Amino acid sequence: MTSNCSAFRARILHFTDIPNPRTGAGFEYFDDGVLVVEQGRVRSLDSAANMAAQGFDLSQCQHFPDHLLLPGFIDSHIHSPQTDVIVSYGEQLLDWLNKFTFPNELKFSCFQHCEQKASEFLDILLENGTTSAMVFTTVFAQSTDAFFKMAQQRNMRMMAGKVMMDRNAPPGLCDTPEQSERECRALIEKWHKVGRMRYALTPRFAPTSTPQQLAVAGRLYHDYPGLYLQTHLSENVKEVAWIKELFPKAKDYLDVYDHYGLLGTRSVFAHGIHLSDREVSRLADTGSGIAFCPTSNLFIGSGLMDMARLEKAGIPVSIATDVGGGTSFSLLRTLAEAYKVLQLQEQNLHPLKGLYMATLGNARSLMLDGYIGNFESNKEADFVLLNLTPNRLQKARQAVANSLEDTLFSLMMLGDEMNVDRTYIMGNLAFQRHGHNQGEM
Ligand code: GUN
Ligand code: ZN
Repeated sequence: MTSNCSAFRARILHFTDIPNPRTGAGFEYFDDGVLVVEQGRVRSLDSAANMAAQGFDLSQCQHFPDHLLLPGFIDSHIHSPQTDVIVSYGEQLLDWLNKFTFPNELKFSCFQHCEQKASEFLDILLENGTTSAMVFTTVFAQSTDAFFKMAQQRNMRMMAGKVMMDRNAPPGLCDTPEQSERECRALIEKWHKVGRMRYALTPRFAPTSTPQQLAVAGRLYHDYPGLYLQTHLSENVKEVAWIKELFPKAKDYLDVYDHYGLLGTRSVFAHGIHLSDREVSRLADTGSGIAFCPTSNLFIGSGLMDMARLEKAGIPVSIATDVGGGTSFSLLRTLAEAYKVLQLQEQNLHPLKGLYMATLGNARSLMLDGYIGNFESNKEADFVLLNLTPNRLQKARQAVANSLEDTLFSLMMLGDEMNVDRTYIMGNLAFQRHGHNQGEM
C-alpha cells in the first residue's frame, strides 16, 4: 500500500442496486471485509480472505471486527437554520412557521451567527453519520455563503441554496425578485460545482413567492446546467387550500411549479402527502423527486405519505429528516419512523430497502450516484462505522438476531446517532465518538 492508501477491515454492507432480499441481488455484504481507500476514493472492496489470498497484508488494516461499515448517509431535505427550533411545541405547519421558524431565521442576518450555526449543523450531521445533504439555508445570502464555506472546510458533498421568499413572511425575511436573481447568480458563480459543492435553487414554497419570483427561479434553473431545485409541495391540508386562493388559475399545487419550469430530474419536492392523481403522474412524467420526511410529517401533524403509490407511479422517493420540522438528524431514526408511517398504511419497509434509501437510493434520487452512495471503485470514500451494540437494549436485541436482515432491522428500528462511532469524509476521519462505554457493551 502507498502512503496515500488506507484499509478498513470490518463487517461491510453496501448496495449496487435496489436490493431484493429474496434473491440477494442488489447488495453485497462481507462478514469480514476490507475497504481500501486511495487518495480519498474507493480502490477496492473484497472479503478479507480474498484480499489475503491475493497477497494483501491484512495487518495494515484498521480493524473494527464488531463494527458495521456502510456508505455515508445522505439526507435529501433538511434546513440548516432550524437546529434551534427542533421540537417546538404544539403547532401545525403554517403556525409553526410563523411562531418558531421565521423568528429564528431572522437571526441569520449576522454573518458570524451564520458561520457558527453552519459549523454546528455540519458537525451534527457528521455525528449522525450523514456525509451529504440537500440543504435550505435562509433568505440571507450570507447564510448560504457561510454554509458553503463551512461545508468546503469539511470537504463534505453538499447541495444548498439561499431561500427565495418575497411575500407572506416577516418583512425582514423577504427579498424581491430582483434581489433574489442577483444574489442567487452571485452564489451560483461562487459555489456551484466548486469542489463538492452544488447549488440548489430554493424557493421556500409557492405561498411565499410571488409569480415574478417563481419566474426568476425558472429562468435561473434553465440558465445554469447542473443546478438543483428544492422546495416544499403538498405537505399540509391548509397549505394546499391556501394555494388555491393564491394561484386560482393553477390546476393544482404542482401546476404552480410546473408553470414556471421548475419540474425535472434535479428537482426535489419535500413531502407530497396530499397529491392528486394528476400531480402524481406529472411528477413521474418529469422525473421529479419526492423527499419522504416521516418524523416531520408526524411531528407537525401533516399526514402519512403513501410511498407505494408514488413508487408505483415511478417517482424517485428519497428519505429525509426535514429538521427542524423533523425531530432527529439521524437517518436511522428517520427510517424507523418511515417504517411506522408505512405500517399504518399496510406497507412495509424492509431494512435492506431502508438502508438502500439512506445511501445509494438517495444518491440516485439526487443524481449523485456517479460520486457517492456505494463502494464501487473510484467513488468518493464517504463512510460510517456503526457500533451495533451501543447500549444494553441493542446489545440484548442483537444477541438474539438470527440473520443479517434481523440484525439490520434491529439497527434500523432501535438505532440513532449513538450507533455512529466514526464518520469518514473522502477517507479522512471527520467524526469520532468519545463515549466512556464505547466498545464495552
Ligand atoms: N414549508 C415551507 N417552509 C417549510 C419549512 O421550513 N419546513 C417545513 N417542514 N415545511 C415548510
Ligand atoms: Zn422542509
